[in-house]
Amino acid sequence: MDDLHGKTALVTGASRGIGRAVAAALARAGSHVAINYYTREKEALETLALVRETGQRGLLVQADVSNSSETLEMTHTVERELGRVQILVNNAGIVLQKGLNEITEQDWDRVLAVNLKSAFLVTQAVFQGMRELHWGRIVNISSVAAQTGGITAPPYVASKAGLWGLTH
Ligand SMILES: NC(=O)c1ccc[n+]([C@@H]2O[C@H](COP(=O)([O-])OP(=O)(O)OC[C@H]3O[C@@H](n4cnc5c(N)ncnc54)[C@H](OP(=O)(O)O)[C@@H]3O)[C@@H](O)[C@H]2O)c1
Repeated sequence: MDDLHGKTALVTGASRGIGRAVAAALARAGSHVAINYYTREKEALETLALVRETGQRGLLVQADVSNSSETLEMTHTVERELGRVQILVNNAGIVLQKGLNEITEQDWDRVLAVNLKSAFLVTQAVFQGMRELHWGRIVNISSVAAQTGGITAPPYVASKAGLWGLTH
């Protein structure tokens, strides 16, 4: 990865899994990293420790990224504590394992909100800052399921295909 010394990154869903690995890699490349999590504070603290081990600054920000007011508050906190977000990784996501007949309207709305709307909300919240800095990177974590379908349920697949469109 390029030298990202002194940049500020925000990784959504970084309490575990891919988000944690991305947060740690960004810190090793020199970024300060804001670690968003939703429910797992203990795991998020472990990610924070990985970031701080590198000597970079880290910050925990709890928020449901499918919620616009929580997302705005989160980005304001990051800006206040670490500076404007220059690197955004829209990683937070949930999987649903249900057959078509079992999926409820609420299931559909929740998966689309957490996996797709969140990327729009967080991007919108940080985008103006990137424009003013004339520098920014946004990475949206989709899935091979966007092209292939597979064992994950239709709303998951649709949300990940939607991320491709948003990215374009
Ligand atoms: N793992 C795979 O094989 C795979 C393959 C293709 C694509 N992906 C995509 O890669 C991303 C990460 O996958 P993963 O397997 O590492 O996921 P994971 O281990 O299940 O972790 C999901 C993360 O998203 C967070 N999250 C869930 N709902 C949230 C919400 N409403 N607001 C904020 N954060 C929320 C969780 O926070 P808490 O734990 O704090 O609640 C957690 O940090 C996802 O977008 C997934 O669709 C994964």
